[in-house]
Amino acid sequence: MNRELERWCANLEADGADPVNQAIAYSLRAPGKRFRPAVLLAAYTELGGTGDAVELGAAVEVVHTYSLVHDDLPCMDDDDLRRGHPTTHCQFDVPTATQAGYQMVALSARVLAAGAARLGLDTEVWGAMARELYRAAGAAGMVGGQVLDIEAEGKEITLDELERIHRAKTGALITASAVMGAIAAQAEDGTVEGIRAYGEHIGLAFQIVDDVLDQTGTSDELGKTAGKDALRLKPTFATLLGTDAANEEARQHASRAVDLLRAHGLDCSILEGLATFIVERKR
Ligand code: IPE
Ligand code: IPE
Ligand code: MG
Ligand code: MG
Ligand code: MG
Repeated sequence: MNRELERWCANLEADGADPVNQAIAYSLRAPGKRFRPAVLLAAYTELGGTGDAVELGAAVEVVHTYSLVHDDLPCMDDDDLRRGHPTTHCQFDVPTATQAGYQMVALSARVLAAGAARLGLDTEVWGAMARELYRAAGAAGMVGGQVLDIEAEGKEITLDELERIHRAKTGALITASAVMGAIAAQAEDGTVEGIRAYGEHIGLAFQIVDDVLDQTGTSDELGKTAGKDALRLKPTFATLLGTDAANEEARQHASRAVDLLRAHGLDCSILEGLATFIVERKR
C-alpha cells in the first residue's frame, strides 16, 4: 500500500514544486495504519478476487487521509500532531492544507479509475464502487458526520445520537471499503449485503475504540494528541459509558460483525482477524 501511495506522491511532485502537491504527498506519506485498504483487500481476496486491487485500496486511503487533514484544521478539531508528525496545516499553512484536502477528493477519483483499469473491471462494476465510496465520503457519510460531530461539542447528546454520528463520520468509509472489495471481486448481491453488515459493525467499533484510546492512550502511542476529546468537550462513547463499558460495546459490535459474516455463509478469516484487531489495537 505504501509503495502504491508513494508512486502517486512521486507523480504529484513531478507536476512541480506546488506547495499543495507537497502537502498532499506529506499527508499520504505519514505512517497511517492503512486499515481501510486492508479491509478492502481482505474482502476482495476472501471473496475470490485474484487480481491486484491495491490501487483501489489506495483510493480509499486518499479519501481517509483527506478527512484527517481537514479534521485537524483549526476550525475543526484544531490538532497539531497526526501520525506522529506535525499536522498538515502546521507543517504548511491553513490555506494550503485546506486546498490539499479538497484536491485529494479529486485525486482519489483518479486513483480509483486507475485501480479499476488495472483490474480490467467493467464500467458498471467500477461505477458501483465509485457510488459506494463517494456516498460514504459525502453528506450522508463522513462529511455529514463531521458536521454533526462539531455541532455536538459542549452539548449533552444521547447514546443513539452519538452512535448515528459515529456510523456516519467513521463507519461509512470503513463499510464502503469492505463493500468495494466485495464489488471488485464481483460477489453476488447477498454476499455484498453480508459484507456491508459486517462493515457497519466494525466501522462503529472502530470509532468507539478511537474514543476510548483518546482517553487511555498517550500521544506517543497514538501519534496524535491524547485527551483531545475532553479538551474540546466532545461527547464520546468513553464519556457517555465510561471506558470499560465502551470497550465492551466495541467488542460486541466486532463479534456481531463476525457472526453476520458466518450467518451469510462467509468463511473470511482475514476479515475476522481485522474485527479482532480493532478492539485490541493500542493506536
Ligand atoms: C483515525 O483513523 C480517524 C478515525 C476515523 C477514527 P485511523 O485510526 O485509521 O488513523 P490512521 O489512518 O491510522 O492514521
Ligand atoms: C475522526 O474522528 C473522524 C474523521 C472523519 C476524520 P476523530 O476526530 O476522533 O479522529 P482523530 O481522533 O482526530 O483521529
Ligand atoms: Mg474529529
Ligand atoms: Mg480529530
Ligand atoms: Mg478521536
